[in-house]
Amino acid sequence: MESLNENEIAPLSSLDVWEDDVLKRYPEDGTKKAKEEFRNYDSPENDSVREFYRLNHKYQTYDNVLAKKANFLKFDKKEMPWWDAMDYLNTLVDDSDPDTSLDQLQHLLQTAEAIRADGHPDWFVLTGFIHDLGKVLCLFGEPQWNVVGDTFPVGCKFSDKIVFPEFFAANPDNDDERFNTKYGVYTHQCGLDNIHMSWGHDEYLYHITKDYLPEPALYMIRYHSFYSQHRENAYDHLLNAHDKEMFKWVDKFNPYDLYSKSPKPPVVAELKPYYEDLIAKYLPETVKL
Ligand SMILES: [Fe+2]
Ligand SMILES: [Fe+2]
Repeated sequence: MESLNENEIAPLSSLDVWEDDVLKRYPEDGTKKAKEEFRNYDSPENDSVREFYRLNHKYQTYDNVLAKKANFLKFDKKEMPWWDAMDYLNTLVDDSDPDTSLDQLQHLLQTAEAIRADGHPDWFVLTGFIHDLGKVLCLFGEPQWNVVGDTFPVGCKFSDKIVFPEFFAANPDNDDERFNTKYGVYTHQCGLDNIHMSWGHDEYLYHITKDYLPEPALYMIRYHSFYSQHRENAYDHLLNAHDKEMFKWVDKFNPYDLYSKSPKPPVVAELKPYYEDLIAKYLPETVKL
């Protein structure tokens, strides 16, 4: 890959700009707006989202994913207690407006508290609390398009149900006959476990937690940004029956991620003992990043 300039590393003023855009795409009232409708105004934020997806779709190749896995799945960057890692994630400061935006820890606590308020099992609450920890990738110098954004399979044809599908024209895999057919390197309903997803915070945290959490939690973590499947069913030809069963959990999780944001920040000190206990119940003392 050619070396990246500053704008290619961080086109968004904040990672939240991506999430706000997802929220506009899938509003809570369920009305699915035509894409023309919600993109039909010019704003610097819209432009940065477009630019973000242009880069994401151009650079998320099969080879990018293999290279990122080879590097980050060594987990040789940092090791620290889990709560310290959550604090570390919170050092991710960006240019967003401090009066209106929540920090990473606040989003995670709001997601988890909404899950807890609905009486779900404690591992589900814990999943809500840690689901975005993989965004520490940004702190290791990864460009935003290798950390957030809708995720999708690489190694086969990019679906036109993925947001901004036109930008895949610049992806070299799009012209590579190994990768540009419906199945590419995969087979009919071979199962998601046999598929490489685009690289990002979801896949990274899945590998960090895979030996410790129940399987539904792992599906929520690994596929929470796979909107073209959990909202659009674009890859039914690759999922197996077990994936389909497990995606009920991904569907259950997604509204908490998208719709739990409230302007009232949670009081971290009050909640910390409860979450420290949950961490101790399921996870090892330290996390290797
Ligand atoms: Fe996320
Ligand atoms: Fe999230």
